[in-house]
Amino acid sequence: MIIIKTTEEIEKLRNSNQLVSKTLAEVAKYIKPGVTTEKLDRVAEEYIRDNKAIPGFLGYNGYPKTLCTSVNSQVVHGIPSAYILKEGDVVSVDCGVILQDFYGDTAYSFEVGEVDDSVRRLLRITKEALYLGVEKAIEGNRIGDIGSSVQYHSEKAGFSVVREMVGHGLGRHLHEEPEVPNYGTKGSGAKLKKGMVICIEPMINLGKRQIVQEADGWTIRTSDKMPSAHFELAVAIDSGKPDVLSTFSYIEEVLNLK
Ligand code: MF3
Ligand code: CO
Ligand code: CO
Repeated sequence: MIIIKTTEEIEKLRNSNQLVSKTLAEVAKYIKPGVTTEKLDRVAEEYIRDNKAIPGFLGYNGYPKTLCTSVNSQVVHGIPSAYILKEGDVVSVDCGVILQDFYGDTAYSFEVGEVDDSVRRLLRITKEALYLGVEKAIEGNRIGDIGSSVQYHSEKAGFSVVREMVGHGLGRHLHEEPEVPNYGTKGSGAKLKKGMVICIEPMINLGKRQIVQEADGWTIRTSDKMPSAHFELAVAIDSGKPDVLSTFSYIEEVLNLK
């Protein structure tokens, strides 16, 4: 069942997703060679609690941390640890919060110091693919219109799309219907209706699309050990144009991209 949100509920979801967006910007200030992913997790948890919200991932299906920090060949669900980020790494940071009973969920892939041109291009294309998907997230379109745009842009660049994990509806639960794949066919799938709120979150690999789960039971990495990128935004379906509830603008101010 797809839950349609009222205007009031969408404003709550906007608050939750703006808080996650600001939390990621706070984390961005600390991302440099020499910092541990555990430190990033502490920064995020403190910021979320200071803002009277609850970490959304902590305890979710037993997940042990506030952030997912996925480094290099790790695709998603990397667990913050004593790992020290080094020059040339890419770290995908995914964050969730609960504020006034509604979830926020947003992710951004960061360069650590100077990275290879191939990695820089992977990040650029993945973010572009996400934005192209977001443009399709309007009333009357279908789920397949989003996935088809994400897939076309990513594969045209020579990259591959992870299939096993998908975006999702967002609300009082972190993962609601519908599933939002990052591949698909135009005109197929559920019709998008005003009041639906979805997370679009392409996971794009530099090499082959196949993934494996690591022994910790959480971390997903590429089978070929090549780098992967992950960006995520929450979007409310409206008529005419997407109502994007999260934003990368706070992050990109910190990174000096804006
Ligand atoms: N970040 C995932 C998503 O965007 C969910 C992570 S759940 C956790 O949908 F338990 F691994 F944190
Ligand atoms: Co997420
Ligand atoms: Co998500």
